[in-house]
Amino acid sequence: MNFDIPAGAALVIGAGGGLGTALVAQLSSGAGGAMACPAVLALSRSSLPAIDYGSEASLKAAAGWAAAQCAGRQLELRLLIVATGFLHGAQGQPERSFTQLDAGYLAHVFQVNAIGPALVMKHILPLLPRQGRCVAAFMSARVGSIGDNALGGWYGYRASKAALNQLVKTASVEMTRRNPQSVCVALHPGTVDTALSQPFAKTGLNVRPAEQAAGELLAVLQGLTPVDTGALVDYQGAKLAF
Ligand SMILES: NC(=O)c1ccc[n+]([C@@H]2O[C@H](COP(=O)([O-])OP(=O)(O)OC[C@H]3O[C@@H](n4cnc5c(N)ncnc54)[C@H](OP(=O)(O)O)[C@@H]3O)[C@@H](O)[C@H]2O)c1
Repeated sequence: MNFDIPAGAALVIGAGGGLGTALVAQLSSGAGGAMACPAVLALSRSSLPAIDYGSEASLKAAAGWAAAQCAGRQLELRLLIVATGFLHGAQGQPERSFTQLDAGYLAHVFQVNAIGPALVMKHILPLLPRQGRCVAAFMSARVGSIGDNALGGWYGYRASKAALNQLVKTASVEMTRRNPQSVCVALHPGTVDTALSQPFAKTGLNVRPAEQAAGELLAVLQGLTPVDTGALVDYQGAKLAF
């Protein structure tokens, strides 16, 4: 059964990233079919207002801005997608061995992949309506699945995404009490051609363009019902082990 998001606003956090950019474009243009939203709000480190995971005040201010945008358009916020994430960069590279574990890298990867999204929950989830369908989706990764970990490596990224999955599951329980029609999930987008995956996208992996991945993820979100809340779901709609 297909449940559409009723006419309402969508908010994408991490709108400057590969997946975030494609999600905003499809939600705005209606290329996502029935997921086309009458208002798409986009936040990133370079938007106005800007969000900064190192500053809870920036998230509080962003929530106030989003609430005002919705009120001004007489729309409720019906869709939240958090598309932020960190794997490699100036703060370090994913570890191949426990001998490479580094406190600075671990702190950063946990801040971007788990603590930042947790603060988004704190400030943005209260904006979702208490009645009717609403969806909150947090971009996670299959490698955050403990049950699926056969290869090892990538300690910090795996652990931070596992932490995110637990945060999503926990928030989903509270969201259901608040609004039984709500859906709160962690998403695995598959391997997508973005800056995050670029150094690691080996041949043989199914690397998809961000536009394709965004379309697939929006189609999955459309089909989710309250029965699915709390799950880690991949871009084909399959539920993955935690
Ligand atoms: N690409 C893949 O193959 C793949 C696979 C599995 C899971 N994922 C997950 O999918 C999500 C999107 O990734 P992507 O591929 O689109 O990567 P990306 O192009 O590198 O985008 C990363 C996003 O994270 C944001 N970000 C990074 N550091 C931040 C910080 N300190 N504070 C706030 N925001 C920060 C960036 O914000 P700005 O826009 O402000 O720069 C950007 O929007 C991530 O959660 C990633 O873990 C991706």
